[in-house]
Amino acid sequence: MATIIMTGATGTVGSVLVKKLLKGGHKILCIVRSAPNCSAQERLNHAIGLRSENAVAVEGDITKSLCGVSADDLSCLSSTNFEIFIHAAASTKFDESCREESFLKNFFGTQNALNLHRFIHAEIFHYISTVYVGGACDKLQEDGQCFVEGRNPYEESKRQAEFLVLNSGLSYLISRLGIVVGDSTTGAIGNFSGMYGFFIPFHILAERERVKIGLTGVQYGVELPLIVKRGESTLNIVPVNWVADMLFNISFNAQCVGKILHVIHPAPPLVDWVIDQSFDILGIQGIRKTGSVTRQFSAKQRVVNPILDLYQDYITHEAVFAVENLPRLLGGDYCPPAKITKRLLELLFQYATRYNFGRGAEQPRLAAV
Ligand SMILES: NC(=O)c1ccc[n+]([C@@H]2O[C@H](COP(=O)([O-])OP(=O)(O)OC[C@H]3O[C@@H](n4cnc5c(N)ncnc54)[C@H](OP(=O)(O)O)[C@@H]3O)[C@@H](O)[C@H]2O)c1
Repeated sequence: MATIIMTGATGTVGSVLVKKLLKGGHKILCIVRSAPNCSAQERLNHAIGLRSENAVAVEGDITKSLCGVSADDLSCLSSTNFEIFIHAAASTKFDESCREESFLKNFFGTQNALNLHRFIHAEIFHYISTVYVGGACDKLQEDGQCFVEGRNPYEESKRQAEFLVLNSGLSYLISRLGIVVGDSTTGAIGNFSGMYGFFIPFHILAERERVKIGLTGVQYGVELPLIVKRGESTLNIVPVNWVADMLFNISFNAQCVGKILHVIHPAPPLVDWVIDQSFDILGIQGIRKTGSVTRQFSAKQRVVNPILDLYQDYITHEAVFAVENLPRLLGGDYCPPAKITKRLLELLFQYATRYNFGRGAEQPRLAAV
């Protein structure tokens, strides 16, 4: 049994990983923010959907020195032998208006986590990064610093945070993830950002149209005369349960120390295929694709234009990501992710629409270990 310290345990990836670690018999100490009327421990229990004496929350905030951990807790942490520090907390927003937040959490947050790691003498620092640190590069290797600037504050702050880890002099692991989507068997996910964010305004418009004729639900097809840019690249989506399995295996594999691993889909679908299938599943018809950026100023088009602008880089370009280290270093502990089929997308969107993309009824937390 290992003792692990972790940030980001209440997030999409972290909450699934904590449950996997608990199942493996490990003890996890999680640095979690409290909320008004909700302690850090309550927030952790809620995120993972259970209470366990092996999942302990310590109140903290990664934007503060030594992650804002109190002096008493610091002394307790210093006397514990942590085999692994998993740093998964971040801001995953990528719009320009969130630049300050991106750097505060992703760059300075990583600096604070590294300093806490040093203070408590943890052994290995496992940094959860993204393959999109590669920005507009054509091929992203797994062999050290990426020198191509990020296309937005998220990519750039994560890229610069990787520099901190690579130059820290500590024993590190860097796992760069693809775009995380729901569980491949249930569709469940904690947070509807990433790929889901693109579809939210279209779904809202479609539901408004249905309400006008007294219907609700994606089974009723509606025409939306909107224009989106034609996709030209692949979209590297990976189910969260597979990501957690791989992060678990990476964390305990001595061969992975000092390495960057791409936790990605080896056979990603084309983004255009994902968009077409997803609109079909969401009961949305009549969307036209264009090669150039076309501006239509109908009221409906104005609703979706900001999201089209925001996601444009992810629709038009994706690097080829090297995928050698993960299968090679994990050996028999590697398995490929589920194939991205229309059936899988249906499962993901069934879950997303049941909970109105996180905008309505509260989601159930994932089943207890
Ligand atoms: N999701 C993806 O598609 C994706 C793709 C590639 C890489 N990644 C990387 O994977 C990691 C996990 O992402 P995710 O999708 O799980 O993100 P998420 O769902 O947005 O969760 C973010 C986590 O960070 C925590 N956090 C944010 N600000 C904090 C602060 N000031 N102090 C302490 N904790 C703070 C959040 O805690 P609260 O609950 O308190 O907000 C939450 O636990 C990140 O490093 C991300 O860059 C994610």
